[in-house]
Amino acid sequence: MNTKRLSDMMEKALSDQMNKEILASHVFLSYGIWADDKGYGGIANFLYRHAQEERNHSIKFMEYVLNRGGKPKVEAIPAPPQDPESLSACFDGVFQHEVDNTTSIYRLVDLALEEKDWATWNFMQWFVQEQIEEETLAQNLIDKLKIAGGDRASDESLFTLDKALQDAPNDVPLAQEATGANP
Ligand code: FEO
Repeated sequence: MNTKRLSDMMEKALSDQMNKEILASHVFLSYGIWADDKGYGGIANFLYRHAQEERNHSIKFMEYVLNRGGKPKVEAIPAPPQDPESLSACFDGVFQHEVDNTTSIYRLVDLALEEKDWATWNFMQWFVQEQIEEETLAQNLIDKLKIAGGDRASDESLFTLDKALQDAPNDVPLAQEATGANP
């Protein structure tokens, strides 16, 4: 008996998003390595945690497709972009990546609406909320760097910014434990 409760198109779209979240994880991992190499241990730590969070998002898509009787497919992941040229380019890159990901999430919501796939529509609301938080987080990074003086920030203000991110709470939740009420 076929127990799949996703259209073929939805199964593929969710599987593609699973792969996109892994790409996001790799992008932030590569940015973290860049920051670490430059001596920004706190910023690197922040980016590594963010990379882990993206991986959790990927697993969340994987679990959902499997739970609906589908089968996601792990695809080749494109290489992350070149190293950023500055901290502001790094933070701008994080922000842009989140905004682009929001566009992908909205496309899935649109598809769920078109197909009247209310289970997927409901599942996607967690990600709609998550993207609001992640865009805000990325925007805050840009704002903090701007206040510190942007690319002309003094070593002292960069030290303070780096330390602030180092000390930010490290509370990456496990995807398996996350719920709509407790993301
Ligand atoms: Fe998984 Fe930053 O979106």
